[in-house]
Amino acid sequence: MNDNLHQLRCFGCGARISGAEAQPDFRCAVCGDLFEVEYPGWSQPQGHDRPNPGALKWLWRERRCSSESLDHSGVWRFRELLPILESFGNAVTLREGNTPLYPLTRASKALGIDQLYAKHQGMNPTGSFKDTGMTAAMSVAKERGFEWVACASTGNTSAAMAAYAARAGLRSLVLIPEGKIAWGKLSQAMDYGAVTCQLKADFDGCLTLLTEIVKQAPIYLLNSVNPYRLEGQKTPAFEIAEAFDWNVPDHLIVPGGNLGNSSALGKGFREMKELGLVARMPRISVIQAAGANPLVRSLAESHGAALEPMEAHTRATAIRIGNPASWRKAARIIQDTGGWCLDVTEAEIAVAKAELGAEGLGCEPASAVTLAGLKKLRAQGSVAGGESVVLVLTGHTLKDADYTIDFHRGTLLGDEEKAGLETEIDGLRRNAQVVEATAGAVLAAMKGNAG
Ligand code: F0G
Repeated sequence: MNDNLHQLRCFGCGARISGAEAQPDFRCAVCGDLFEVEYPGWSQPQGHDRPNPGALKWLWRERRCSSESLDHSGVWRFRELLPILESFGNAVTLREGNTPLYPLTRASKALGIDQLYAKHQGMNPTGSFKDTGMTAAMSVAKERGFEWVACASTGNTSAAMAAYAARAGLRSLVLIPEGKIAWGKLSQAMDYGAVTCQLKADFDGCLTLLTEIVKQAPIYLLNSVNPYRLEGQKTPAFEIAEAFDWNVPDHLIVPGGNLGNSSALGKGFREMKELGLVARMPRISVIQAAGANPLVRSLAESHGAALEPMEAHTRATAIRIGNPASWRKAARIIQDTGGWCLDVTEAEIAVAKAELGAEGLGCEPASAVTLAGLKKLRAQGSVAGGESVVLVLTGHTLKDADYTIDFHRGTLLGDEEKAGLETEIDGLRRNAQVVEATAGAVLAAMKGNAG
């Protein structure tokens, strides 16, 4: 069976090439921009390659009861919308996707938003949204016969890549900024057997170097410049639409780092609309950390016409990126959907993360920017109480336990950073106490923490 119905289209100049013609760095040979996967058969209204929306909805629902392993993946369950392989038999899967959409009861009350949800992508096999993209791109790497795959990473991509490479029987190379990734993520890359190089460089430097390396050796690049990653990462949009009974939420809020994920989710919603699966698109907003906000600046200064790289600083190490590769794609999706792009401070991130923890969900700091951003949007009147809003939580709380412990111990933030938020922070902190091993002491500790 040939399941392969795609081609690559340059996002900058519109040049079209076949998947096999892509350069090792996935940059357009004409203009240097990035590619997007497109499916020519979908644009012909009566074409026999154009999927039928009613039939798809029925088929995808039926697959939930299927015993076939590919159907257990929340990515490949939607495989009609990612026909990127010669054969789906080559798919490398860890049963990714199928992540929960949780109502955020406390936050919804506090913000006066009736329908507020968290799509928790941290509930994927390696604990982040990267798995949905990695299953797709790793399958392509395997099908095309590569022995080595590689990525530069702030941690989660490397964890996902190492796991999927191990499942596929491929070797993997990880380049990470020394001392700037959370231990949980580094431990995963080691556990799954990657060759892990910590470089005296930031994420942007690691990616630049890797771009050189893949031109010198037959290594398959698995950063989100690889358009097949984004094909997998668009599938949570399908899950969200399905959960809303094919009525999309009004607003989706996504953290922004290298800016692949916001682009991918936007592509997912756009394709569903083009195929008649949904009637409209949600607004898509992107939130960055204030110390790593190149897209916020770009939109403010040039309406997204140019992006000035910056030196990035934030404790949300996953999004510590100053020169994001997919910024043009992200700017386009924000502008096309009428979304916002704003930044939040270190203290706002910490408070939002603790609030999500107190709802019994938890997430890593980079994910918490979504709630912090929503609070700002609500305060400035950009989000109405009657809107349905989905926050995309991108990583699991256990990825960066040090951050959480430092917050609750009170050692995370400096006094200046906390200014204006001291009361919120004190109300959320739950430090572990050293208590005498007696019933009385434990009962007293409970009273001390009441409320
Ligand atoms: N949230 C988490 C937990 C991440 O790990 C990342 C990116 C993002 C948000 C931002 O997503 O880059 O698509 O805008 N992490 C990458 C990595 C860069 O190497 O793991 P983006």
